[in-house]
Parts: sequence; structure tokens; C-alpha cells
Amino acid sequence: MNIGSLKLDNITVLAPLAGITSLPFRLLAKEAGCALVCSEMISANGLVYQSLRTHELLRSQAEEKPLSVQIFGQDPAIMADAAVLVVASGADILDINLGCAVRKVLKTGSGAALMKEPHKVEKILQCVRKSVNIPLTIKIRSGWEASGSQALKIAKIAQANGIDAITVHPRTALQGFAGKANWSLIKAVKKAVSIPVIGNGDVVLPEDALKMTAATGCDAVMIGRGAIGNPWIFSQVITLLQGGEVAFPDVEQRFETMATYITSTVHFFGEHRASRIIRSQLGWFVKGLRYSSRFRESIKKVSTEKEALTLVKKYKDFLLDGNNKGIGLNK
Ligand SMILES: Cc1cc2nc3c(=O)[nH]c(=O)nc-3n(C[C@H](O)[C@H](O)[C@H](O)COP(=O)(O)O)c2cc1C
Repeated sequence: MNIGSLKLDNITVLAPLAGITSLPFRLLAKEAGCALVCSEMISANGLVYQSLRTHELLRSQAEEKPLSVQIFGQDPAIMADAAVLVVASGADILDINLGCAVRKVLKTGSGAALMKEPHKVEKILQCVRKSVNIPLTIKIRSGWEASGSQALKIAKIAQANGIDAITVHPRTALQGFAGKANWSLIKAVKKAVSIPVIGNGDVVLPEDALKMTAATGCDAVMIGRGAIGNPWIFSQVITLLQGGEVAFPDVEQRFETMATYITSTVHFFGEHRASRIIRSQLGWFVKGLRYSSRFRESIKKVSTEKEALTLVKKYKDFLLDGNNKGIGLNK
């Protein structure tokens, strides 16, 4: 599949997830074979007005490429200026967020608020398209009505204004993440435009990705929550596409990934900030394992890389040692 001039190796895409899809997380997805990773949404205003924390979100590394960087905002000129900064940072694709339904974002007239304003969207897309020449994509929701008519309208505007691909998350803004994603809208958008359509929503199991392509005809599948603590979903989808059988990570592989995540998070954010991320995120990787709640309790208390790695090793050794009767992770 191509997005503009960019060819993707397969059809799997990591969704933008605020507070989650930082460089260390994206590297895990990439390692598992994900064809395209996305940054979390980045404020166009923050970029243009030189917020340091916002600029930090642009940091990238060759190993994760190709990288899609997503911006949000509502002022066409600021969006265009932010787009230039994104290109200068080395991004391969620029994505525009038209789907965020968080109150803080909606209040500024950005994200899904724009789904109600096709003329404004058109202006933004025209300004941004003029300012950069890398592949340009948009990510939309159904809009504000279950019918999805706003999504179809925006998709056609996007195609007419040189957008290279559209991601569709078929839930209304009012739904948030509740209810089921209405995959039939992905199919309707795919029928309405000739540019590639990336389907998104409720791909939790590797089989879901195949079901989504079969049901909608979408060109690629974007996975969000299904990849949290579970980067292996990308290799599993690829295996299924190649006609193979899905394999689940064994204990060694799972804990090696966790150790890699700890180390690269510390490397990227420094030990102090990394420890907060590790405390809140490492538990995701042990879902369903024996005594995982004990591990989650213990990991919440770590404050150094060494403590985190030791705890991970202790838990791994425990799981691999069939004779162990109990676990005292926080001792
Ligand atoms: C914690 C969280 C953060 C998210 N952040 C973003 C974001 O920054 N930009 C965006 O376009 N969508 C964001 N989304 C929406 C996801 O990209 C995706 O559209 C949604 O989760 C549906 O896909 P899924 O069912 O595979 O999770 C976020 C979702 C979650 C749960």
C-alpha cells in the first residue's frame, strides 16, 4: 500500500495515542513489524509558539521510520506553519487530527469539532497542502451524527484537496470510545473516495484486522488500544495475512520486551520522568499472567531503572520456576 509517494511494507498501522505513543512505545511496535507508527497528537499552537514540551514530541529516531506525525489545531495559518516545523523534524507523513473528542480539544474548535465545519476543514487542508509536500493524511471520526454523513463529506473534501489517505474511526464524537465502531462507515468512505482508506476501531485480536479488511475493503488497519502492552499484535496480524498461525509471546520474549521498554524509556525521558511512565504503563504488559496484580502493585513503587529491571527479572524468574509457591515482589 502507498500513501502518496511512500510505500508501506504491510497494512498495519499504530494509532496515535496521547501519552502513550512516544518514541519508546513506537519502537516496540516497529520491532514487531508495524509498517507505520504515529506520534500522539501535537498542538499546532504549541509548535508554532515554541513550547519546549511540545517540540519534544517531535523527537524521532531512524529505526522507527516511516513516522507519521499528527497535529491538531483550527487556525489554517498556524496549522500550515506547524506543518513546516513537522517536516523540518524529519517526519515522513503529516496527519491532521479531525477526530479528537476530548472536551479540552473540542473547546478550542479543534479535533472532532471541525467535523461540523467542512468549509473550515477545506481551508485548513488547502493551507497545509500548500505549505508542505510530504504525504498528507487526515484522521476522522463519524462526525456528530450516527449516519456518518459528515465523515463522507470531509472525505470528499480531503480527496479534492490533495490529501493522500484518510483514517476512519467510525464512532461519533458523542460516543467517545463507547459502543461498537461502525465498520460499515469505513466501507462507505472507501466507496466514496479513490485515495487509500485506513480502517480503525475495535481491532483487538489479530483476526479482527482480517475481518476489518474483508468487511470494509480498507487498504490498511490502524490499531490503538489493542497494541497497548501488546506490540506483538502487529507480527500476529502479519503472520495471519501470510497464512500462518498466530504465535503468542513466551515469557522470555515478553519480559525481554518489557526490559527493552524500560531501558529506552529511561534513555529517552531520563530516569525521573521515565519512572513515572514505567509505574503507570508496565502493568499493561503482564495482563493475564499469574500474580500480575502483585507485580502491578510492586512496579508502582519503582523510582530507578535498576529497580524496575530487577523487579521484571524477579517476576520472570518466578513465572519460569514451576516450583515457586508464592511471590514477594515488593520485598
Ligand atoms: C488513550 C488514548 C489516546 C488517544 N490519543 C489520540 C491522539 O492523540 N490522536 C488521535 O487521532 N486519536 C487518539 N486516540 C484514538 C485512537 O487513535 C483510536 O482512534 C481509537 O482508540 C480507536 O481505535 P482502537 O479501537 O484500535 O483503540 C486515542 C485513544 C486512546 C484510548
